[in-house]
Formats: sequence, C-alpha cells, structure tokens
Amino acid sequence: MLLTLRSGTKGKKVKEERKVTPVSSVPVLGSKKTEKTAIDPKSAIAAAQIMTHSAGTRPKPKPARQVVPVTPEPEEEEEPELDENDRWMKEARAKVNNVKGIDVNAAEQIFNDVVVKGDPVVWDDIAGLEQAKTSLKETVVYPFLRPDLFSGLREPAQGMLLFGPPGTGKTMLARAVATESQSTFFSISASSLTSKFLGESEKLVRALFLMARALAPSIIFVDEIDSLLSARSENGEHETSRRIKTEFLVQWSALQHAAAGKEHEDVTRVLVLAATNLPWVIDEAARRRFVRRQYIPLPEPETRKHHLQKLLNAQKHDISSEQFDNLVAMTDGYSGSDMTALAKDAAMGPLRSLGEALLTTPRDQIRPIGFDDFEASMKTIRPSVSKEGLKVFEDWAAMYGSSGA
Ligand SMILES: Nc1ncnc2c1ncn2[C@@H]1O[C@H](COP(=O)(O)OP(=O)(O)OP(=O)(O)O)[C@@H](O)[C@H]1O
Ligand SMILES: [Mg+2]
Repeated sequence: MLLTLRSGTKGKKVKEERKVTPVSSVPVLGSKKTEKTAIDPKSAIAAAQIMTHSAGTRPKPKPARQVVPVTPEPEEEEEPELDENDRWMKEARAKVNNVKGIDVNAAEQIFNDVVVKGDPVVWDDIAGLEQAKTSLKETVVYPFLRPDLFSGLREPAQGMLLFGPPGTGKTMLARAVATESQSTFFSISASSLTSKFLGESEKLVRALFLMARALAPSIIFVDEIDSLLSARSENGEHETSRRIKTEFLVQWSALQHAAAGKEHEDVTRVLVLAATNLPWVIDEAARRRFVRRQYIPLPEPETRKHHLQKLLNAQKHDISSEQFDNLVAMTDGYSGSDMTALAKDAAMGPLRSLGEALLTTPRDQIRPIGFDDFEASMKTIRPSVSKEGLKVFEDWAAMYGSSGA
C-alpha cells in the first residue's frame, strides 16, 4: 500500500474549511448584534460588517468564505478516493500507536516525512535491466505476495543494495518496487532521520523500524545510503551520526531471525532496500547485512536501443533502422540519464532550426527529428561516467557484488 499523503492532506484541508464555515456563518453574528444595536434583523450581513468595522469606515465587501454555504456542495465527487486514503492513514496510525515503546512524536514525524511522492513508476517504464528486475522480483515482490512459500531456508533477504554509476536507473527501480510490491513503502533519506536534539535521532530510527514492523509488509528504502551508513571511524566523526548508524544496524539485526533455516510462525516482512553510487564507502557491518548486492551497470547496446525507441515512440522522427543501430553504437558509454538528456536535446533540433519562425509555425509543420539532430547533440551531451570511474565499480562488483538471479 502506498501512502499518497498529498491527496490525503488536501482532503483534510477541504474538510476543515467546510467545518469552519458554519461557525462564522452570518446568522449567529447577526442575531447577537441585532439584540444590542437594533439593526434590521433581515440584513444579517450588514450587521456582521458593522460589528467588525469601526464606525465611519466603509464596510468592505463580504469575505468570500461567507458565500460558501450557499453554493451547492461538490462533496460527493471527492469522497470515495479521500476515504480510502484517510481510512488507511487512520488504521495505520491506530496500529502504530498500539506498538509498545514507540515514541509517538517520532512516529508522527516519520508519517509526515516518509511517504512516496510523485507519479508511480512501473517495470515497463524502465528500459532493460532485466537481471536487476528479476532479482528484485525474487527478493522483494514475490515473497511479499506469497509469504507462505518463502519461509524457512527460503526466507527472503532482509537487505538489498543497488549500486552502480550515476544515472543508471537505481532510484527508478526502487520506485517501481514500491508500485509493484503492494507494501508500505518508507522512502527515507539521511536527513529525515537526523534531529538537532540529543537522542532524538535514535528515537526516529527506532520508530521507523517499529512502524515498518507494525505496518508490514514494508520496505524501508534509503536512497544514497552512503551518507547514512558510511564506515564508522574512531575519530573525526560526528557523535550523532555514529549513534544513528549504530542504532540503524541494531534495529536492522533485530529483524533477522537468529537461526537460519528454522520455520517461524512470524512472517513479518520488512526489507531494507538501498541505492548508492559510492558502495565502497558503506560500513562493513552494513555491507554484510545487504545480502543481495545488485550491480546496475551502464546500459548494454540492446538496452540503449530499447531506451531510445521508448523515448522516440511518441515523437515524429525519420530515423531509419540502420541509423538507429548507428546511434546505438555511437552512444557506447552513455548512461540511462545521458540517453534521456541526449534525446531531449536532439528533440530540440527541429525547433532550433526554425529560429524566429518558431513563434509562428503551426505544430504540424515542424519537421521530424532526424539522425543529424542526434549527431549535433552528441557534441554537447557527453557521457557522464568516465572509463576509469567505471573500472572502480566493476572491481567492487567483482569483489562484493552478487550477480542476482
Ligand atoms: N533503464 C532506464 N530506463 C529508462 N530511463 C532511465 C533508465 N536509466 C536511467 N533513466 C533515466 O535517467 C534518470 C535518472 O535515473 P535514476 O534517478 O534512477 O538514476 P540513479 O541510478 O538513481 O542515479 P544516481 O546514482 O545519480 O542517484 C531517470 O529519470 C530516467 O529518465
Ligand atoms: Mg538515485
């Protein structure tokens, strides 16, 4: 279940406004005033205005809010969607408040901070990365949907790390997992667990894990985990960040069953999913807990082709299939986000060639995107990952990575 708090809060505001209006509605004010100052009782609005403005000032136009009760209520249309969100939030809150030892304020802060925003991503939005998708399905999606099959020795991993060069789709993959796994998805960053008050940060971490258990199946997704779980050092490290790390590791361990292989009654599913492009910075103890370490490499030629086709699908273009293959060969070393940037720039080509005429040309007379546009854009949009940079990832992957399913 995703928490889409945005529409939830909007709903609350609407409700609050509606509740407020009758309180400040005209008849109450008017009737009080009429007793004392003998203003025409029919003119309730005038009474209200005189009451709020001192004598001699010109009465201002009636505030908009007072008009609200007169308009027909559009309530019915909005209700069903709001209800589901609100009901879920209410149930979740009730479950969380029942948890022994949870800090209510910390839990509330996590409720506010830790929600998935933005439009949902589905598997099909992500070009290629088949191995990573399979691995995520096996580790996260299937066990969450069929907990009865994945128990005992088949118990799923409680930690999974996605690592690789920047812009290869790690965050996108995690967002797809959020959509597809039907779980409570806590998307946190180091800053949502940091508090300036002594001891508060640990409470937040504890509350996070307690909430994840109470609302299981849940996924705790930490993007850019290197900033939260970098190697602990003897000195030169801030005391607070060290304590957050320790608490995180302790709470995370508590999720694991002490003895592997035994059948357990309790099939609480909580998974820590993380993404980073600096995997070597992560603390060794944390690395061990990420049983699955999935390398998300730069896209293969096949993936680049697929990605380009996806990007150009909805556009007018006259690129032949040979030229397509050429483009794929020319973009060796480009990451997923480089490919997106390249296609965006190339799509501007037809507009650029119009110059000033851009302002008057009808939409359907703009020429299709061509191979030349890509060639021109390739001069400015260069790969963002260097060969040497890539080598470091490959070495780390060879040493610590698990190739996945
Ligand atoms: N496989 C892919 N399919 C479709 N789009 C992709 C793919 N990989 C990257 N992109 C594009 O690149 C953008 C950045 O992807 P994303 O944020 O997932 O990268 P990341 O691996 O998390 O990068 P970073 O390590 O810098 O956080 C996406 O918004 C998307 O437009
Ligand atoms: Mg990312």
